[in-house]
Amino acid sequence: MSKKPYYITTPIYYPSGNPHIGHCYTTVACDSIARYRRMQGYDVMFLTGTDEHGQKIEQKAAEKGVTPKQYVDEIVEHFKKLWSYMNISYDRYIRTTDDYHVKSVQAIFKALYDKGYIYKGEYKGKYCTPCESFWTESQLDEDGKCPECHRDVVEAKEEAYFFKMSPFAERIEKLLLETDYLQPKTRATELVNNFIKPGLEDLCVSRTSFKWGIPVPFDDKHIIYVWVDALSNYITALGYANDAYNDYDKFWPADVHMVAKDIMRFHAIIWPAILMALDLPLPKHLAVHGWITFNGQKMSKSIGNVVDPMVLGERYSPDAIRYHILREMALGADSSFSNEIMINRINSDLANDLGNLVSRTVAMVEKYFGGTLPADREDSPADCELKKLASTLRDRYEAEMDKLQLQNGLEEIFKVIDRANKYIDENAAWKLAKEEGKEARLATVLYNLLETVRICTVLLTPFIPASCDKIFDQIGACEGCRTWDSAARWGKLKNTVTVHKGEALFPRLDAEKALAELNAMQE
Ligand code: MSP
Repeated sequence: MSKKPYYITTPIYYPSGNPHIGHCYTTVACDSIARYRRMQGYDVMFLTGTDEHGQKIEQKAAEKGVTPKQYVDEIVEHFKKLWSYMNISYDRYIRTTDDYHVKSVQAIFKALYDKGYIYKGEYKGKYCTPCESFWTESQLDEDGKCPECHRDVVEAKEEAYFFKMSPFAERIEKLLLETDYLQPKTRATELVNNFIKPGLEDLCVSRTSFKWGIPVPFDDKHIIYVWVDALSNYITALGYANDAYNDYDKFWPADVHMVAKDIMRFHAIIWPAILMALDLPLPKHLAVHGWITFNGQKMSKSIGNVVDPMVLGERYSPDAIRYHILREMALGADSSFSNEIMINRINSDLANDLGNLVSRTVAMVEKYFGGTLPADREDSPADCELKKLASTLRDRYEAEMDKLQLQNGLEEIFKVIDRANKYIDENAAWKLAKEEGKEARLATVLYNLLETVRICTVLLTPFIPASCDKIFDQIGACEGCRTWDSAARWGKLKNTVTVHKGEALFPRLDAEKALAELNAMQE
């Protein structure tokens, strides 16, 4: 039977500076979802990439005295290095400077023009250079600045091509209000009231004020608006209007586009309008998350408050960083980054709860049984609660993961880990070890702990894959004990399983010292 396809995308990032932890959030979240779906048996396409055109890049390259392509090439390397370091399992990486993408975007623009949705006119308005966005007077904030980044806008007037948005207003309103396209849906009303109700204005989709972009195929003094170029990546990367790939029929429409709230408008209104105009199916879901903030402000290079994930990863491991950002962020809401919270999380959840559970259990199997459990068992009614909690965990986890509530999925796992730690204390294995005739009971307690660890580890794999591999090795889990199916079944580990003691998974940090070091570095 052929596997069901699943297509998930991150935004494509501007390579205008090195990636920071804010960029990491979407990518790590998508990676965890992609791994979750692969584990369930889907044929996953996980796409990420870089959005390399536009005035901002052109300006930055000029400042550095290099060509825009040289400028982006260097930063794209940083992105790729970071993703590999963070164990990001993307299937395809698109660069909007790739030839096939350039040709496809030109074909898309031409198709929209031929269908009468793009026409030539004159643009007069306000332009925000950092956001690459044109605004009308009424859309500016109360200080007359960009409504998105609140920086100065400049007067702009130029001959330009426009995309007719109004024919799609009604369908988009329905999409937002009556379907589950937008998640969380609470943002739909805000979008409809701000952009659709006042009348969906035609979108200016070409520029003549700079050169670094994709030329309009039939009028090459015009550059295609960077958002039309960028949004199209989701289909060009599959081979739409090009021969580079042949995956469009299999993977489109996307299952999830994940983006942060500042680019929701482009994905909730403009992208559906482009697809409607092209007569293409719409993506199934747009998952919108909040920002990682630092001292209350969006973490961003231009504000200068960025945290480098590589620096943190080198100190605490990429998995600890992956865990921290996913555990702290509820989909939809902002999450404030704090060194203190991160260090406490690593210590309490990873070192104490998970790390200790694994190391204590493995150490006891080694100490009391030389590393291999004997076959005899002695069950007790006192085991039922833990066994039931662990063997039903997959259902509770799946319910959360399917709603993309990764934070809640993790919380469900850690409830079971917590229960297992209490079970160790309740059953006082060290006392059983001293009592005559209690061997079978002691082996049962340890087996129950190993099984609980195994199930939790299967379900933790999408989040902290490298650590889970180590745990599986330590608890002696065979290949068949690491699968999605096995996570719903109690008793998959061999009765006479052999464990292998390993290094501490997450060494406990001296919180005060670690915090002082991080704060000093940030200074
Ligand atoms: N190039 C566009 C996206 C085009 S998608 C067709 C873009 N790039 S970006 O590099 O500026 O941002 C990429 C994503 O990272 C956006 O979703 C943005 O909101 C997100 N983040 C940037 N800083 C962030 C935080 N501090 N916190 C969470 N997400 C952050 O926009």
